Amino acid sequence: MPFIGETRRASPGMDSRVPKKQTTAGKKARAAARAGEKYTTALRGQLPSGTGPAAMSPATDPARRPGLAHRALMDGGPGWRPFRGTGLFRRIGGQQAVDRLVDLLYEGISADAQLRPLFPRDLAGSRSRQKLFFAEWLGGPGRYSEQAHAGLRHTHDGLPITAALADRWLGHLRRALEATVTAGDDRAAIAAVARCLATALVSGQVAPARPAGRGRRPGGKGGNNSAPSNNSAPGNSAPGNSAPGNSAPRPVAWCGIGARSVARARDLAHRGDAAGLGTALAQAPDLLLPSYAAAIMQAAALAGRAEIIAMLLERGVGADHPFFLPVNVTGMAFERVVFVTPLCAARMKRRRAAEAALMAAGAREDVFTSAFLGDRDSLARMLAADPGLAQAADPAVDVLAVTPVDHAVAGGQAGALRLLLGHAGLDHAVDPAAGYARALRGAAAQGSAEMAGLLLARGADATRIGVGRWVLHPVLAPLLASHGAAIDSSGAWIGASCTGNQGRTDDPDYVRALLRHGARASDRRGTPSGEQGDPGSAPGSAPDNAAGIRALNATALHYAARAGFLRTIEVLLEHGADPGARDSRGRTPLDWLEEAAPSVSRAAVRELLAPRS
Ligand code: HEM
Repeated sequence: MPFIGETRRASPGMDSRVPKKQTTAGKKARAAARAGEKYTTALRGQLPSGTGPAAMSPATDPARRPGLAHRALMDGGPGWRPFRGTGLFRRIGGQQAVDRLVDLLYEGISADAQLRPLFPRDLAGSRSRQKLFFAEWLGGPGRYSEQAHAGLRHTHDGLPITAALADRWLGHLRRALEATVTAGDDRAAIAAVARCLATALVSGQVAPARPAGRGRRPGGKGGNNSAPSNNSAPGNSAPGNSAPGNSAPRPVAWCGIGARSVARARDLAHRGDAAGLGTALAQAPDLLLPSYAAAIMQAAALAGRAEIIAMLLERGVGADHPFFLPVNVTGMAFERVVFVTPLCAARMKRRRAAEAALMAAGAREDVFTSAFLGDRDSLARMLAADPGLAQAADPAVDVLAVTPVDHAVAGGQAGALRLLLGHAGLDHAVDPAAGYARALRGAAAQGSAEMAGLLLARGADATRIGVGRWVLHPVLAPLLASHGAAIDSSGAWIGASCTGNQGRTDDPDYVRALLRHGARASDRRGTPSGEQGDPGSAPGSAPDNAAGIRALNATALHYAARAGFLRTIEVLLEHGADPGARDSRGRTPLDWLEEAAPSVSRAAVRELLAPRS
């Protein structure tokens, strides 16, 4: 069976090629890592040739494909999507088997006193996202890539994952596999690849991602009690990573208290404050770990701070390490998945000095940069040299299938998109994940009928576009509707239009357009059909609070009453909404009005909702 960017299926024999923790190679690699080398790189070096991940050819590993290797943030072992096209997903029992696998994995994690503190208090959201992930990773539908907001590297950054914790996680996975996957060969193949990824996720951080004694999950949201210290992890004490004097290094993470160090360093880089940044790096050495350093480098590139770029390069930060662009640049559809290199960021903002500094340091061009910036000449050259690049997945987001097509759309480059989609090397038949649902959502959010038309002509699945303001667009709405786009009955549209959250205002035209495209005034927010989640989310997503919203089972009128959206209430009533509808606790929209903000005119809402004689 064909592979995408890979030519070999994971074989049962793979397990023997994957190093176990206690091998001599592993020990030597750990020693090399303590001396500053990346663990997985060191591990490859220790393995005999023809064994282990080192045996993978560049063609089988997208991260090592010529022209893309510099974008990788993680050593991925035997490829990140190794089961694509192997029939494994169907063979093991499809989504039902995957759901059971993840339920059992999470049962193991919840009962594990050492692993549990790393996870959020409420596991519901995490568990349902993992079901989408494992389905895709095991070769099933690409729903996770359509909506995930980070690859594995970023999801696990800031978590103090030691080799011992990785082993525990793998133990739970192995037990879950025993109970769900019948064929020993398949179990061995899955376990082997998971081991490679888990090994690559072992943290190299020096500082705990949270200060001792704080009741939050390290590096994360809403967690609890004491996480194991990562200082005990082998290879975690890279030389030169100690703070000045005897003071403990400051925590560094993407969320929680450690996020302050990252935000401050990025701000200093943006302002060009070299002295301030020097101090910040000394106080928090983990800022120089690849993904944090990439964020700081991007801030300098966007602001055109050539002297900061030079300073970071001098400290060993890669000239090519990509980082995701802010959502106000890419739009929500591409939140945290469109990674650009510092060179791309500098060019986007026309920062010539920064570009020159990066070029002098050997920064590389690649297909993602050309697609995002709409550089058609270089795109055409690259595609002529390697046709497979047209649908290469970006190594920066490891397991996610984010391709140059997504980059072209995120950059608003219809010409580059046309070139990519018209490229002879593009073969949709071999990639079930290339449904372009995310790209189509992005094109629609930009109001680009041209890009949406190109994607639809290439088979993009309009039925997966989800809720969005496309319903208001005079050209896009009929175009998408004619390809099957519609608002489903899960009630996700209510979150996007009838709550006062995230600065939303009373927008009756939007509600009317949603109702014209399939929404019904009787829908309830969080109705499980399609497992749809929060406002604006794609079908199939289930955010952390989905369970709470689902439990409320309230109508659009409940939310609009609480938000005080008078004109929306009128539209809903015109479309047959029931003012006497009750939520799961028996409360009517008028009862919800009691929880409204003081600014809401209660009298006006009551007037509208009062029973008519
Ligand atoms: C090495 C041991 C591992 C530990 C301790 C660990 C721990 C975690 C934690 C704490 C989260 C965050 C959960 C949340 O905030 O909801 C997470 C997320 C995730 N993990 Fe792991 N993990 C490990 C290995 C792996 C491996 C090997 C894979 C893939 C085969 C994986 C796949 C994922 C995915 C896809 C998510 C994100 C789910 C989402 O979209 O929210 N993890 N992991």
